[in-house]
Amino acid sequence: MCGIVGYVGESSAAPIIVEGLRRLEYRGYDSAGIAVHDGHGVQVVRALGKLRVLAKVLEDRPLAGTTGIGHTRWATHGRPSEENAHPHVAGPVAVVHNGIIENHRALRQELARAGVAFSSDTDTEIIAHLVHRELQAGAAGLLDAVRRAVARLSGAYAIAVLGRDEPGVIVAARQGSPLVIGCGEGEMLCGSDIPALLSHTQQMVFLEDGDVAELRAGGLRVLGADAKPALRPRRHIDWSPVMAERGGYKHFMLKEIHEQPEAVAATLRGRLDLDASSVHPSEIGLGPEAAGALRRVYLVACGTSFHAALVGRYWLESIAQVPTVVELGSEVRYRGALFFPDDLVVAVSQSGETADTIAAVQTAKAAGARVLAVANVLDSAIPRLAHGSLYTRAGPEIGVASTKCFTAQLAALLLLAVYLGRSRGVLPAERAAEILQALCEVPSQMHDLLGDADYVRAVATRLVHARHVLFLGRGLSFPIALEGALKLKEISYVHAEGYAAGEMKHGPIALIEPELPVVVICPQDAAYDKTLSNIQEVRAREGPVVALATKGDESMHDLSEHIIWIPRAPDVVLPLLTVVPLQLLAYYVADRKGHDVDQPRNLAKTVTVE
Ligand code: G6P
Repeated sequence: MCGIVGYVGESSAAPIIVEGLRRLEYRGYDSAGIAVHDGHGVQVVRALGKLRVLAKVLEDRPLAGTTGIGHTRWATHGRPSEENAHPHVAGPVAVVHNGIIENHRALRQELARAGVAFSSDTDTEIIAHLVHRELQAGAAGLLDAVRRAVARLSGAYAIAVLGRDEPGVIVAARQGSPLVIGCGEGEMLCGSDIPALLSHTQQMVFLEDGDVAELRAGGLRVLGADAKPALRPRRHIDWSPVMAERGGYKHFMLKEIHEQPEAVAATLRGRLDLDASSVHPSEIGLGPEAAGALRRVYLVACGTSFHAALVGRYWLESIAQVPTVVELGSEVRYRGALFFPDDLVVAVSQSGETADTIAAVQTAKAAGARVLAVANVLDSAIPRLAHGSLYTRAGPEIGVASTKCFTAQLAALLLLAVYLGRSRGVLPAERAAEILQALCEVPSQMHDLLGDADYVRAVATRLVHARHVLFLGRGLSFPIALEGALKLKEISYVHAEGYAAGEMKHGPIALIEPELPVVVICPQDAAYDKTLSNIQEVRAREGPVVALATKGDESMHDLSEHIIWIPRAPDVVLPLLTVVPLQLLAYYVADRKGHDVDQPRNLAKTVTVE
């Protein structure tokens, strides 16, 4: 969590940093701060609350200078307050930090014994004091001092540091947390992710764990973990700056919902051959022979990605006929999950940074399993740890509630299932062709669905006053019911539960009453008749039903208050379609309630703490 940004160049640093932080606010938004070197010393401004509060303070008290660092915070150590906001200062040093220093208690005690007085409750302030002490102890400049200081830290961090005696220099370091360097014309930037830097440059350098880098307007110097100069290649990033803009939509989430046809199409592009009924996921690092030797697939993920993994299990078992387990990243470690060398562990993560998923990947790797990352962010921690990657190509996702990355993950997982099915010789070419054909038609069907957004908005107005909502689905629609409920609760703060429709009679049926709207995903698929019976059971108890039904299913008119039509499509791809109106439903309920849709309370998009 937390976002950091640094700028050194010829322009005024503060507006550039605030702009970069604006793009990182999804990572945390309880306080923000900035430090700028004005040629004489380091000036710091911090503010409690969202970035706009800081921006307002800076309007009244502008900071001059062309070198600076900034931070937007999601509190871990110490409550949200101005004192705990970054940057943290010790003597001539100012530090911003993303991550958690695990040995902070011991270091704090050691520093306190040496007479250091702390002005915050954060683990970050310790870093500032350590760097300061290294400078006092004779380090050969800021780069050397930071290198020595971070050698004392355990845990995860990405930091950017300013020093009073080195104007025109930022020192950055990373271990575990992300940090990207942007190399512009006569300017150098650093940031927690690519979109924060895109409006300046598409030339990026990805630091390795253990790297310490010195950024100057005219160049970059990197020391590797062994303290020797290290060459880190520049890479051209083909995300365009406009991809990280709202582009006329009221919220990023709404824009991202509407970007799903392209997110799915891009994820499929170049990876399948309809004529040959085959899939070519070249980067996954798993040849047909290794695919044939697999005994099990083990999917790990958190949040929305976990729901994508649940859908993936249905596909992997039915299409690739490989036994598949799905587990939450946070549970893997604590239930002593077993991994084997002939497992394929698939870590599904939009950000590629989620701490619980990373921990699960590490456990699996230690047991000798092969790991495949399904991630959206290039070169993020999980793809780095994995043996192979199948990137979703959804473009930057800014809204905290994940939408286009979810459907892109589904597309990637279905490709994987077809690839494994074909490689293992269990999926006939004709069936593979049907699935791939259906998948290729999804973007245009999504497009049609999005054309009905106004109707979904009208349905949403009926749910605005609901205190609880139940979502039901069967088979492939069950994980979509979970996802529909999650979307609603995270942005509208309405209590919602997703349930397997077949489980309703084992408990939730007791809740059914006229005040409990029940959203039932009931396309004309293999589970249709059974789900229809569940709708009747709800109706019999006067529960109001919102049905997601296949276009033309007239019988639904008598059974539901509202019907949201889904295009007719083969069962196998339905999850990519049914989820779209549920995302819109959650969006419109939240918007109608006046909530901050892109930055819901208490949440962060990238959860780098366990
Ligand atoms: C957070 C986000 C969710 C996301 C989850 C997993 O909780 O708010 O939207 O689904 O993390 O994130 P990942 O990046 O691993 O997909």
